[in-house]
Amino acid sequence: MTKLKLIIVTFVIFANFNLLNAQSVEEIIKGRKAMFSENYQTGKKISILLKSKKIEEAKPLMKKMSANYKKLLDYFPENTKEGFKTEALPSIWENKDEFNALMQKASDDMLKLAKAIETAEDLRAVQKELMWSNCSACHNRFRAPH
Ligand code: HEC
Repeated sequence: MTKLKLIIVTFVIFANFNLLNAQSVEEIIKGRKAMFSENYQTGKKISILLKSKKIEEAKPLMKKMSANYKKLLDYFPENTKEGFKTEALPSIWENKDEFNALMQKASDDMLKLAKAIETAEDLRAVQKELMWSNCSACHNRFRAPH
């Protein structure tokens, strides 16, 4: 191989690598945004179901949301701090353990909620405590004002 060819081949490999990397960052950021939006939609559906005491129908949605939060734990790698209109704050990576703990708590609380609604008298209050409050607790510290 001539020196020039070697340079070209190296360049092409490097350029492709960068492209692949850029795509995966885009996929990760867009992927986590989509999951948060889905959780929001699911949360609203849960509210409607609980209003009409449809407890058994609400349970699978709670489990789905819990699983989504677990997946989200893997959606904040170091290389996804900026770009693609992310609202994720740098404080996430400065306090990764705390951030992950809040995500894990949000996930665990959805499973607790699925149990609690069997006996709770005030469904709205228990949903607020075990679901909605976790959204704001995390957003206050780790999501940019929007
Ligand atoms: C442990 C942290 C955490 C919890 C818990 C959490 N969020 Fe978020 N949420 C974030 C972060 C960080 C972002 C910004 C993601 C980005 O833009 O990359 C976000 C973004 C969003 C978005 C915007 C998505 C988009 O398309 O840009 C919505 C909607 C949302 N969250 C709703 C909720 C709701 C509703 C709950 C509770 C039921 C919730 N979140 C719980 C951290 C959290």
